[in-house]
Amino acid sequence: MEKPKLQVALDCKSMVEAFRILGGGLDDTVDIVECGTMLLLHEGLHAVDYLRTIYPDKILVADFKCVAPHFGSAVLEHEPNLLTILSQAEDHVAAGITKEAIERGKGQETQIELYRDYTVEDVRKWKSYGINHIIYNRPRDRKGPWGEQDRKDLQVLIDEGMKVTATGGMSYENLDAIAGLPIYAIICGRSVLKAEDPAAEAKRIKQRIEELWA
Ligand code: 5RP
Repeated sequence: MEKPKLQVALDCKSMVEAFRILGGGLDDTVDIVECGTMLLLHEGLHAVDYLRTIYPDKILVADFKCVAPHFGSAVLEHEPNLLTILSQAEDHVAAGITKEAIERGKGQETQIELYRDYTVEDVRKWKSYGINHIIYNRPRDRKGPWGEQDRKDLQVLIDEGMKVTATGGMSYENLDAIAGLPIYAIICGRSVLKAEDPAAEAKRIKQRIEELWA
């Protein structure tokens, strides 16, 4: 089984901060760089350009949480590999952006980021639009460490044939709860960004992934 990739969410407010975070080895350790929503808000879409230019071979996510089709068109032009769409977006938004991503023919993919209750029917509907990737964003009201319910929720999405990425307070300590699941990626934001040494913390997380998915 392929091991989950490690994605760092650049939830910061400037490119200076982003490069400070990525420097010192973090960029070598993570598999996926996420241009976070806050970074996009503060720096605009050229944040994606900077990251693409400096990391031409990294998987790059633009976490724009799209809710309108023309937002998607604008972001796709900046060549991220992956683009997020909010689960509450109207159906034509998810369908339209995904169609455009496919038609651009550059291998770009959309991801539905779960931000509310959803049903298996929703997942099947997204799939019918050509979306094969879901971000399981742990419900904010689910406090404490990740546990059995998160594992079950992830399994439902996996069983629907989705590529699944897990996020929401994910940390070194929480990895055990989802060990062994065939997950595409694990997104860490605060646990890495707020660590005393982000590069060392990402390495520790990556090493633990290696052990738990061996
Ligand atoms: C939330 C996000 C965050 O970037 C991602 O979930 C990382 O969060 P955390 O700081 O909890 O690890 O996109 O929508």
